[in-house]
Amino acid sequence: MGVDVILGLQWGDEGKGKIVDVLAPNYDIVARFQGGPNAGHTLKFDGKKFVLHTVPSGIFREHLINLIGNGVVIDPITLKKEITNIEQAGVAYKDRLLVARKAHLILPTHRYLDAATEAAKGKSKIGSTLKGIGPTYMDKTGRNGLRVGDITTANFKQKYEALKAKHLGLLKLYPAIDFDLAKEEAQWFESLETLKALPFVDGEYYINNAIKAGKKVLAEGAQGSMLDIDFGTYPFVTSSNTITAGVCTGLGIAPTQIGEVIGITKAYCTRVGSGPFPTELHGEVGEFLRKEGQEFGATTGRPRRCGWIDIPQLRYTIMLNGVTQLVITKIDILDKFESLQIGAQYQVNGATTNELPFDLCDQSITPVYEEHTGWQQDLTKTTSFDDLPLTAKSYVHRLETLLEVPISIVSTGPNRKQLIIKDTALVSV
Ligand code: GDP
Ligand code: IMO
Ligand code: MG
Repeated sequence: MGVDVILGLQWGDEGKGKIVDVLAPNYDIVARFQGGPNAGHTLKFDGKKFVLHTVPSGIFREHLINLIGNGVVIDPITLKKEITNIEQAGVAYKDRLLVARKAHLILPTHRYLDAATEAAKGKSKIGSTLKGIGPTYMDKTGRNGLRVGDITTANFKQKYEALKAKHLGLLKLYPAIDFDLAKEEAQWFESLETLKALPFVDGEYYINNAIKAGKKVLAEGAQGSMLDIDFGTYPFVTSSNTITAGVCTGLGIAPTQIGEVIGITKAYCTRVGSGPFPTELHGEVGEFLRKEGQEFGATTGRPRRCGWIDIPQLRYTIMLNGVTQLVITKIDILDKFESLQIGAQYQVNGATTNELPFDLCDQSITPVYEEHTGWQQDLTKTTSFDDLPLTAKSYVHRLETLLEVPISIVSTGPNRKQLIIKDTALVSV
């Protein structure tokens, strides 16, 4: 089948960027299908580090086409910064980075609305990245949005002014926030020139024709399934469908085209921003995970909340996505633990369950933990599953049993090469 999918099964930052970069050479096209510059995907190789926000993580693999799909929201300012970085690294991107005409644009005033609405929420704020994601998707579903294809139409400036006027009207409803619209608008229009220099395509035709021609496509998810607008921990979610279903609407392909669904989870769990997190660790163990895992947001620099791996949560997102294989990342971050916990089930209102209740904010949820012996050994240089200590193998096997999906890759460090292919029948690099 034409399109394989890589997506996050937790609350984002599972290591999607790294795994897309690793597997990209097996494909002809890497395509982002949703989200926008709220994403921060980190790639490390040859002593270099890149954080991508809008550009797909296949960009550093020569000859590969990278498509920003119609489901993505684009801020020309962030995109220009990313492209400048890529250019400075000597990467030829000009004919390899395509943009779907139906992708929506983030205006400076979308960001202001994000800031104003978050500030107005006070203590119940979402913890948004403040990149304008919510307001831009609201304009999309409200049928007011500006799209990439509009840029080349004669009345683009008029459409921009109309949307800006609407936003300025809305901003009056909120306590005043600081912004310098004239300055940011000038920067936005200047950055638009960089966007305009990229090839615009009718993404849906492009992808479907490519599939027909036998090309292989890898769809790259952003955020995580627990941040999905429909199935995440609402209202503490993002504003797009982050699950496999989002690939169809975000690229214009039929469900029958979906092949492998590669779900990524950390060997533990993190979340950035507000909202429920049943296995969160508040004490020194959580602090230790944050320090060992360098758990600070790739987009905002905020400290990530840390906790143990959560099986009911993962079983839920595996179900929603139709995951066919799992990738476990950051197992090396557990290297120093004497013992580990797996959140195997929940106790809700006194009863044990494997399912997520309607509202995870429910105070009565208590994870039921299963204890595992740690390996207390450095795994960052291990490249073969057979060479793992028995206790690490048994941790991975236990996850596989509880999650009922085969694990194809175990990632042992941030670098492209720090990897164990556990199941060569499922994946090769
Ligand atoms: P993404 O948003 O899912 O692409 O993930 P982020 O880039 O936001 O966060 C993942 C972080 O973990 C990045 O700093 C990666 O370089 C790093 N990383 C990825 N895989 C591994 C791994 O197996 N071990 C370690 N130690 N770091 C990893
Ligand atoms: P990647 O692709 C982690 C979180 C924010 C906030 C909520 C809503 O790097 O995994 P938004 O800006 O969308 O209005 O924020 O979602 N969030 C992420 N958390 N990784 C991300 O992306 C995220 N993108 C958004 O912290 O809680
Ligand atoms: Mg990230």
